[in-house]
Amino acid sequence: MCGIVGYVGRYNAKGILMNGLKKLEYRGYDSAGIAIISHRALVIRRCKGKISCLEERVLKEYIEGNVGVGHTRWATHGRPSEGNAHPHSDCASRLVVVHNGIIENYLQLKKRLLAGGHVFKSETDTEVIAHLVEQYLKPMKKKDLLKAVQLSIKQLKGSYAIAVISLDDPHTLVAARHFSPLIVGLGRDEYFVASDIPAILDRTKTVIPVQDNEIVHLTSLGAHFYDHNLRKITRKPMTIDWDPVTAEKGGYKHFMLKEIFEQPMTIQETIRGRFSLESGDLIFDENNLSKTAMKGIRKIYFVACGTAYHAGMVGKYLVEDIAKIPCEVDLASEFRYRKPLLDKETLIIAITQSGETADTLAALREAKRHGARTLAICNVTGSSATRDADGVVYTRTGPEIGVASTKAFTAQLAIICALAIYFAHVRAIITKKRTIELMESLYRLPRLVKKVLALEPAVKAVAQKYFKQRDFLYLGRNVNYPIALEGALKLKEISYIHAEGYAAGEMKHGPIALIDEQMPVVVLATGGVVYDKVLSNIQEIKARGGMVLALATEGDHHIKKIGVDDLIYMPQVAEVLSTITNTVVLQLFAYHVANLRGCDVDQPRNLAKSVVVE
Ligand code: M6R
Repeated sequence: MCGIVGYVGRYNAKGILMNGLKKLEYRGYDSAGIAIISHRALVIRRCKGKISCLEERVLKEYIEGNVGVGHTRWATHGRPSEGNAHPHSDCASRLVVVHNGIIENYLQLKKRLLAGGHVFKSETDTEVIAHLVEQYLKPMKKKDLLKAVQLSIKQLKGSYAIAVISLDDPHTLVAARHFSPLIVGLGRDEYFVASDIPAILDRTKTVIPVQDNEIVHLTSLGAHFYDHNLRKITRKPMTIDWDPVTAEKGGYKHFMLKEIFEQPMTIQETIRGRFSLESGDLIFDENNLSKTAMKGIRKIYFVACGTAYHAGMVGKYLVEDIAKIPCEVDLASEFRYRKPLLDKETLIIAITQSGETADTLAALREAKRHGARTLAICNVTGSSATRDADGVVYTRTGPEIGVASTKAFTAQLAIICALAIYFAHVRAIITKKRTIELMESLYRLPRLVKKVLALEPAVKAVAQKYFKQRDFLYLGRNVNYPIALEGALKLKEISYIHAEGYAAGEMKHGPIALIDEQMPVVVLATGGVVYDKVLSNIQEIKARGGMVLALATEGDHHIKKIGVDDLIYMPQVAEVLSTITNTVVLQLFAYHVANLRGCDVDQPRNLAKSVVVE
């Protein structure tokens, strides 16, 4: 949570920091601030509320300075307020810190610092860092911010990505990372730190991800990396192939809508060139797992959070069905506490858009500790998950800015289909001919998704009918059960309507008690082996006066006869791939309901895009 950005270079920092913060707003938006070293003074501006409030405040103000830091906050310690907004300063206001993460031992540190005469101004955990750096910097004859930060972070327990600037070393920015994401951007005579790539993408595409326990020293002359003992290390830059325009709204009202409409392209990019039609092999982006290791896998665990967890649930259905490998799906936050049975014949597939979700990373590390093989399905190049895993398959969707995950999810599903086919192929469960047939059906998917997007007016009309409802039930069966969960999650997170996803067959074991004239039920009835069963479930709802909004396959007249209230006809598609086409309609439905209710679709309350704390 929280986004940090820092700048050292030959240009004025204010505009660069403000632009960077706007790109990071998806990470938290309850308060924001910047600090710039300007004419031997530290100019600090902070605001409660969104970045637009801060922008209004600093817009007309001329703040000259080439070294600065900025922060957008998602509160953990201390309520959202101007006083708790970052940057936080020391007693003498000679240095400031911006921080993303949680300092777990801040109370002990604060007690000690208070006893030493330090005066605290906020309720945050972060402020201890400013006072620690002050404690080390103040007595130094020759002020060395790098050294002071290094000594300070040795005291910290928890997770952090920090950036520090000080009047005592005014041409320097020092940053450090421990379990919270941080990248360094290398420009021409200018250097950046940021929580995520979009913050700096319009100024440079050359980045170096900072690794755990590394410290970075930036001046306008260069960026230098150190380990926690201040031994210099050499890091190789990488080039990001994201287009800065992808990080803009491009005429859409919200990023979420733009990202929904990008899906034909993002699915295509994700699977393009992924399969060798000659050998039937899947092309990984990075792979330290040999084919023999892949063949030897006896069990797969999908671990992930939120939407990515739903992708994992679909993964279990597909891999067990197509490749016949037993699978489990775990919420990453539960995985390491339940002592799963892991060995080198186990493969952990971590699914994560950001590659920085703390729970998912912890699960990945736990798996490695037990000698299991690991694979990451991830969207962000160079993120922690991609560095930690033995193998990586990227979803190539470009930056996903809307807090509600859309295009990353469908790309994850596409990759999971490809993986299931690949596992079946290497284990000789299916013939090469069948492998190619299956892959070809996957390649037809982007065109189908385009067709589904053309249903937007119909979906919007249905949203108009239902947007004032208080509760929703979503039902699906088999591979579409996780899609019902995902539909419900999408609706609740952006519209704040209570929505529950259920396996349709499970309805009679409890949720049926909720059915009355006020309860709309979204039913995924697009066919497959469970089609007849789903129709029976619809009849059970209708018999109790419930309202049914059904997704069915074009040409299905039978479903009309049982009297559903609203019907959206979907293109013909294999059941496996209906997970993707159905998802797109549910995304559009959630979007239009939320928009009609006047909700802040891209930045729903209380949420943050990447949850980098436990
Ligand atoms: O970056 P990750 O995929 O690891 O994020 C996982 C979840 O936090 C994320 O999917 C979350 O549930 C989204 N808000 C869903 O729209």
